[in-house]
Amino acid sequence: MLKKALLVSLFIGFHLNVFAQNADKALRLSKQETLMPIGAYYYPEHWPRAQWSRDLKRMAALGFTFTHFAEFAWAQLEPEEGKFDFDWLDYCLDEAAKNDLQVIMCTPTPTPPAWLTEKHPEILTVNANGVTQNHGSRLHVSYNHKTYLYYVERIVEAMAERYGNDDRIAGWQLDNEPHYGVLYDYSEGHKKEFQQWLKNKYQNIDSLNAAWGAAFWSQTYNHFEQIHIPNANQAPQGVNPHALLDFQRFNAAEVANALRFQAEILREKVNSNQWITTNYAYFKFLPSVDPFLLEDDLDFASHTMYLTSKFLSDHGSSLAHRLGSGMELSFSQEMATSVNGRTGIMELQPGQINWGVINPQPLPGAVRMWVWHAFALGDDFTCTYRFRQPLFGSEQTHKGIMDTDGITVARGGKEYLQVIKEINQLEIPKKAIALPDEIQSRATAFYWNQYNLLDLENHKHHADWNTWGVYYTYYQALKSMGSPVTFLTEQDNFDPKKYPFMVVPAHQIISNELVKKWENYVAKGGHLIITARTGLKNPKGHFWEAKQQAPIWDLIGAEIEFFDHLPAQYPGKVSFNSKEYKWHIWGDALNAQENTQVLASHADQFYKGKAAITHKIVGNGGSVTYIGAVSDTGVLERDVLRKIFADKGATILDMPYYTFTEWRDGYWITVNYTSEDIDAPVPEDAQVIYGEKTVPPGGVTVWKN
Ligand code: GAL
Repeated sequence: MLKKALLVSLFIGFHLNVFAQNADKALRLSKQETLMPIGAYYYPEHWPRAQWSRDLKRMAALGFTFTHFAEFAWAQLEPEEGKFDFDWLDYCLDEAAKNDLQVIMCTPTPTPPAWLTEKHPEILTVNANGVTQNHGSRLHVSYNHKTYLYYVERIVEAMAERYGNDDRIAGWQLDNEPHYGVLYDYSEGHKKEFQQWLKNKYQNIDSLNAAWGAAFWSQTYNHFEQIHIPNANQAPQGVNPHALLDFQRFNAAEVANALRFQAEILREKVNSNQWITTNYAYFKFLPSVDPFLLEDDLDFASHTMYLTSKFLSDHGSSLAHRLGSGMELSFSQEMATSVNGRTGIMELQPGQINWGVINPQPLPGAVRMWVWHAFALGDDFTCTYRFRQPLFGSEQTHKGIMDTDGITVARGGKEYLQVIKEINQLEIPKKAIALPDEIQSRATAFYWNQYNLLDLENHKHHADWNTWGVYYTYYQALKSMGSPVTFLTEQDNFDPKKYPFMVVPAHQIISNELVKKWENYVAKGGHLIITARTGLKNPKGHFWEAKQQAPIWDLIGAEIEFFDHLPAQYPGKVSFNSKEYKWHIWGDALNAQENTQVLASHADQFYKGKAAITHKIVGNGGSVTYIGAVSDTGVLERDVLRKIFADKGATILDMPYYTFTEWRDGYWITVNYTSEDIDAPVPEDAQVIYGEKTVPPGGVTVWKN
């Protein structure tokens, strides 16, 4: 796994990435030299054949360098069982090639044709209320149903045979935003698969009973066939949290297996110039998807982003709905990059969307800013969703680059044209430029484990607990300092030279081995920042038979006596650096061991004077900070992080939240998602390329030092 900021992305044209394990393939998404190719989705099946040539020609003339075909076109590719029709796609490939547009080919598996589900209704998913899904939408089949896989194999194989050695195709996208359309499939078939997965995992029912704590409330099972899918709708007092976590692990494995199944078919048939990816959607909403499970199977993980969807958190100010959530774009990008060292945005909205809670027009400039932000974060490509606004179907009011007449460039489309031109005008460095020392000094690892997130959400302790809120508090504080963030999982190398800082936010389930890895990181000079709830549970998700969080006491140099939770209207106070900060969601009462510094303590409650934040310095200059409070505004966490980073010699920025400053290929970029003007940290003698030192809402400033 490589740090994003090291990815000086000279992949275009004929360059090769020389730095990433799995990222050594040229992505071939542009025939002309550019630091970031920009492409657009095209669905030929939505338009008369007579317009395809005109549209693809126009796409290229506007500056797009690649397009994207076949995503949901199973019914066109295999209109009748076993009868394939590639003629239309061949024609589109010819037209794309004539215009020098590279092509991302997509497997059409989220949308099986009517003849398939008519013949095999057993492949349909069932939702949590027991309702079977049906033809007429998408994502209504069970990913790993053997019958479905038979048909998947046939269509993917047919496409691979036809296009696997076709130079016009740069790479493949598997499926689309992979996940179960009903979140989880509660069908009988899926239940049986789950039972089998449990048998493989536990071997015998006694081990399962022990792991699930089934003695509690007389849940003990006699055999695997008694096990149901944990379903909150059938559980008056909540489902067993251990059963639910296993079910989620099973689902993540299922989605990964389904994608691996397709990847393996393609690998056998396609030549090695063609890469394979999938386009992950918001990591936040799709608990059954763990992108790290496919590290070895895909060339890289791409991701999708609709920033104004209102399902994402934003800064809540008056323009937030028009500017969208830059923080989530950033989080999603750095997460996707962490999987295999590179990423691109496969779908980025070009204007107003149709499916949010509210669907505002983006602020003039916002669309351009999103592309610049993707560029700034090191994206290898950006693909907009979509070239033409559809005239029919569920997404009729979803903007495209072109207006509904198909020939006028829409408002957001014009911003694309501008940003394409701007990026193309940037000088391309002749060789990779080393990461500036200043950025390396604040590079941060964010410890990540999907199942820890799920466990916290399954068993929150109280309704105020918000795991994503905790993640964003730390992530946003890091971005305000200008830190590049890499998500590391337990298998990764915790190297303090690459990542001088490592943040471990609320990592509840730990193993003794993980504690050793953290100790080792610190012994080698790393600065570990661990936060409340970390280490409460053992790898089974049970509490340790020990005092609270005892397995991390030596690591942090403090004992954790207990935690507290308060009503929001009666918050507690923690004092740090002579300032007081309110908290109510979680507060630990700590006793520092000898030689451990107390950074903050409780200013009230019956445990007034007990430590809330401790700091231990270890042999080689490494350190461990334990932050035992979730503050009401996140400012406490930010102030503590700033102090630790500065004290340990990092050079840090001081950007307002929801503004971002990144470095890429020798260029510095600041983007502003707030409703106020802000100052970009442009040095006096810098060469400003676009924008000004003052960045307006939706503005972008680009400079070179
Ligand atoms: C995405 C999805 C696309 C399209 C788009 C519309 O989440 O992957 O297929 O539906 O939303 O905004």
